[in-house]
Amino acid sequence: MANRDELSTTAKQKYIEAAARAKNPLETLPYSSFTTSAGEEFKLHFRSRSELDAKTQKWTFKLAEQNVSGYYKQLKMGWKPKVKQAELGKNWARFLVAQNKDKQPVAYTMFRFDMDAGDCVLYCYEIQISPEYRRKGLGKFMMDTLEACARHWQLEKVMLTVLNNNESSLTFFKALGYVKDETSPDVLEEADYEILSKSMLG
Ligand SMILES: CC(C)(COP(=O)(O)OP(=O)(O)OC[C@H]1O[C@@H](n2cnc3c(N)ncnc32)[C@H](O)[C@@H]1OP(=O)(O)O)[C@@H](O)C(=O)NCCC(=O)NCCS
Repeated sequence: MANRDELSTTAKQKYIEAAARAKNPLETLPYSSFTTSAGEEFKLHFRSRSELDAKTQKWTFKLAEQNVSGYYKQLKMGWKPKVKQAELGKNWARFLVAQNKDKQPVAYTMFRFDMDAGDCVLYCYEIQISPEYRRKGLGKFMMDTLEACARHWQLEKVMLTVLNNNESSLTFFKALGYVKDETSPDVLEEADYEILSKSMLG
């Protein structure tokens, strides 16, 4: 393969298009079940936006609201439910949803394939775990799956945005090897968020 720096934007765009076109971009990966060290089992399903049933679609918003609206409300930007709802309803949205043994959804990640500052990336827009299912390794399993997906489609990075006041998720992403991205606002900009990324090259 050519050195990635030498790849043209058109070539990178082609990687993005191939991933976005796939009916299930996770198909070749071992993503469909996760068992915790205590033996609790979860089933995971990939869904594009159009394949997500209305009830699950509603639940994705409700869980985001329950988990993160408090962080937004503490910041100047505030909580904008319509913006979050609209984002979760975009045609490009891809979901990985985890269900417990009763087939109830308990966690999800929402992501897309995109170009960002000249790089072809998998952008993770949401990772939301229901409070009672945290610290079981589910979040790490889902991020590992997204990373394997990005590698499979030859993308350069996994990227995400985290609010500065969401300390537990900053700790989580740093534990997984995410670092401040070069496009993250610098200190002088006094932004309320950081952009983190992990390189998938090498
Ligand atoms: C952040 C979040 C996704 C983590 O998911 P999770 O399934 O609980 O995380 P995991 O169990 O896979 O944790 C993996 C490692 O991350 C670190 N970690 C995770 N949550 C942490 C916390 N609250 N405090 C400190 N470290 C944490 C630990 O090193 C952990 O390993 P360990 O449990 O063996 O110590 C989850 O807490 C969540 O959904 N939070 C609310 C929504 C949110 O803030 N999403 C991110 C928006 S950008």
